[in-house]
Amino acid sequence: MNNLKDKQEYISSLMKQPSSAWRDFHNKSLISVFSKGKKRKWNIDYKSYGRFEEVKLPHKSTLMNTSLKQSLLRRSSVRIKKRSLDLSLNEIGTLLYYSAGLNPAHHNRRFYPSAGARYPLEIYLIPLRTELSNKFTYHYYVPHNTLEKMFRYKKEDVYNLFSYSQKWIKNVGCVLVITTMFERSILKYGERGYRYMLIEAGHLGQNIYLVSSALQMNCCAIGAYKDKKLNDILHINEQHELSLYVLALSKTK
Ligand SMILES: Cc1cc2nc3c(=O)[nH]c(=O)nc-3n(C[C@H](O)[C@H](O)[C@H](O)COP(=O)(O)O)c2cc1C
Repeated sequence: MNNLKDKQEYISSLMKQPSSAWRDFHNKSLISVFSKGKKRKWNIDYKSYGRFEEVKLPHKSTLMNTSLKQSLLRRSSVRIKKRSLDLSLNEIGTLLYYSAGLNPAHHNRRFYPSAGARYPLEIYLIPLRTELSNKFTYHYYVPHNTLEKMFRYKKEDVYNLFSYSQKWIKNVGCVLVITTMFERSILKYGERGYRYMLIEAGHLGQNIYLVSSALQMNCCAIGAYKDKKLNDILHINEQHELSLYVLALSKTK
């Protein structure tokens, strides 16, 4: 489906069908009545690879010496044409902490909202040009503000996740992957939990855009990638976890 006319026809056929997959899902996730269930105490789960080396991340609010207004004005999706400078641990740590870390001013909740404080999302980092070893993938361990050094990966496999038009990905500093441990939400909210996860990925994604903007870094969201291949690179068990969203980060002079 390469030309615009085919795409337009495909979209209008979707809109006409009363039961395309997205509408079926939307209808299955409607709320029509509220049940008065017992109030349950839900534990917050943190995914951890206990046996792996942890890289401590600094986080320096002074690196973000800019107003919210300036961050908003600077925000845009940047597909860089030249190679990124190496991203430092200070930059990576500050970005991850203020996007996804624990907020001490708010009972150790996060810098983004989550339905029922279930926090189903996880973040992985694939370093291409950073102070970290660029041979391994990393998982962000929220309570310690650390990166857990996970598995070896091949750069070519990462480049092949994206279409030909995304060749610029070879230039970036790192790729962040937002995944969902979906049971955390589904257990509480059923089908509607899936809606919430996508919404939360948007909240977290916007934090990443705005914090990276404040750090004078460049960010670009990427929705078009090969899901299964990405899950393989990260050794994700799809029975419990799925990738949702990719963001490419870089820094230029
Ligand atoms: C859910 C989502 C998926 C996106 N997927 C891609 C993508 O696959 N490739 C890409 O180059 N940009 C992608 N983008 C970036 C959009 O193209 C970009 O946000 C849009 O053109 C508006 O530009 P701005 O972000 O600079 O304001 C995506 C953005 C969102 C929100």
